[in-house]
Amino acid sequence: MRNPFEYGGVVSGEAFCNREKQTSDLVRAMENGEKLFVFSERRYGKTSLVRAALGKLPRKGYVCAYVDLWPTDSEATFVTTVAKAITESMSTSVGKVLETAKKFFGSLSPSVTMDEEGKPALTFGLGKHARVGPALDEVLVTPARIAAKGGPRVVVVFDEFQQILEYGNDHVERKLRSVIQNHRHVSYLFLGSRKHLIQKMVLDRNRPLYRAGGHYPLGPIAEKHWQPFVRQRFADADKGIDQEHIHEVCELTQGHPFYTQHVCHVLWELCEPKAGCEHRNAPGGGEGAVGPGKLCLHDVVGVSGPFPEAVLEGVGGGGLRSEGVCR
Ligand SMILES: Nc1ncnc2c1ncn2[C@@H]1O[C@H](COP(=O)(O)OP(=O)(O)OP(=O)(O)O)[C@@H](O)[C@H]1O
Ligand SMILES: [Mg+2]
Repeated sequence: MRNPFEYGGVVSGEAFCNREKQTSDLVRAMENGEKLFVFSERRYGKTSLVRAALGKLPRKGYVCAYVDLWPTDSEATFVTTVAKAITESMSTSVGKVLETAKKFFGSLSPSVTMDEEGKPALTFGLGKHARVGPALDEVLVTPARIAAKGGPRVVVVFDEFQQILEYGNDHVERKLRSVIQNHRHVSYLFLGSRKHLIQKMVLDRNRPLYRAGGHYPLGPIAEKHWQPFVRQRFADADKGIDQEHIHEVCELTQGHPFYTQHVCHVLWELCEPKAGCEHRNAPGGGEGAVGPGKLCLHDVVGVSGPFPEAVLEGVGGGGLRSEGVCR
């Protein structure tokens, strides 16, 4: 049986724990054409959450462009990445991609080539001497064009938004300001993982995006949501874990989604079917406790690291010095 606790990538479906309120908040924001900055530290689940919210919107009547800015490093790569995301969100079939690309972004020389796996891939190119400014205007005005005159509702998500601070100038930030102000029928969500940067971008009066939208900090997942989630997944594999042990895991990770999944992944792996996970308090942090069938959470911290400061403090300061043993 596959380990039900996933850490690292985007999680969905059975691997996705709660976030019900946050999902419905984001769905409402999208329906209302709101502009929202969603931020947290790394690995708190922003991408998984926004993907879950996008999945709740009716397919009919909505065009949702998800733009991952992580690979972008300049205005030009921003332009081509946004153009690609919008085109793909508008195309129902591979055959239609090039047609759509030409219709909306003809000036960006769209072409479809085969990637290494033989799959068709859409690419855009900004000619060497092409001016980026007009191309930027063109891609950023497109969502509003699509939504105009009773068109579909449009949602644009910019993930890893802090990346625009690496572009060397603030053209994108400035341009987005007017887009946000004027595109009443388009919802924009900006996801960022460097909290202080995003806050600075939105809450600093001197920045173009000052109070350009609402801000939505994403916190950890509460223990009351982890309890049934973790217990059920152990039970499904005929493994047992009781409330107190899940509580200790949550204390250790402070509900941080990535770390909670990681610790549970390790515990689940070490726990034999028809057995239960048991924790024993071990003075001295359980040194030497790792062996076949045994797991010291302190060591999981080492394996998973780097843990957030607060978590490490909890472990080092004697907050949690326990040894988890699978019997
Ligand atoms: N709702 C959730 N339920 C269970 N696990 C979650 C949830 N959200 C996030 N996780 C855990 O956190 C990990 C990271 O999630 P995700 O990539 O969505 O976070 P992120 O904030 O977008 O991260 P990054 O800062 O790297 O962009 C997932 O692989 C999963 O282990
Ligand atoms: Mg992410």
